[in-house]
Amino acid sequence: MAESKPEIWRAVDEYLAETLVGHDPALEAALRAQQQAGMPAIEVAPVSGKLLNLLVRISGSRRVLEIGTLGGYSTIWMARAVGDEGRVVTIEAEPDNAAVARASIDAAGVGELVEIRIGRAAEVLPALAAEEPFDLVFIDADKESNTIYLDWAARLGHPGTVVVVDNIGRDGDIVDPSSSDSMVTGTRAGLEMLGRDPRFDATALQTVGVKGWDGVAIALVV
Ligand code: DHB
Ligand code: MG
Repeated sequence: MAESKPEIWRAVDEYLAETLVGHDPALEAALRAQQQAGMPAIEVAPVSGKLLNLLVRISGSRRVLEIGTLGGYSTIWMARAVGDEGRVVTIEAEPDNAAVARASIDAAGVGELVEIRIGRAAEVLPALAAEEPFDLVFIDADKESNTIYLDWAARLGHPGTVVVVDNIGRDGDIVDPSSSDSMVTGTRAGLEMLGRDPRFDATALQTVGVKGWDGVAIALVV
């Protein structure tokens, strides 16, 4: 049996991506553009992008909200799943990131399906209440605000809306209740809200792979 260590997690993840996801010029170009623009390589792994794509399709979601665009990698994955009449509304705080994402999303051929809203999500989200509800919400931004984003996900969703929260494992740090890392305390607060708030029914999965040891929470708005 292979020893469990990051090198093997990576090799297995690469094998899974090679076998199940394959190569994708538009997505790989988006990652190159993101890197050239100096953004951190914190986009979801290929297998996780494919998971987001499948969750959109499994749930039949037509309107997707993403909080945290970065270079548009996960945006492209989800835009490919919403159908011709679908929409991904994605919120990005950094205008320079949004410009890079816009170009990559357009180059991927899904530009007409994606609206990028530039600004701090906590300030952009209230305006979305005037629009049609969202069927799936992907939260992948500043972890300190996860409870605010979850509250908006419930308010902007409907019974049956799927909510996905990225980065809930943080190398195991989330089991430390005395952590002074605001990303850890924000992540814990979000998970505790998912467990306690009657608007949600949730679970979470730990993941290992090219992104190290982390995880994803998946919830249903009930
Ligand atoms: C961080 C944020 C992310 O969304 C991610 O996928 C990985 C790391 C971070 O801020 O450390
Ligand atoms: Mg993330």
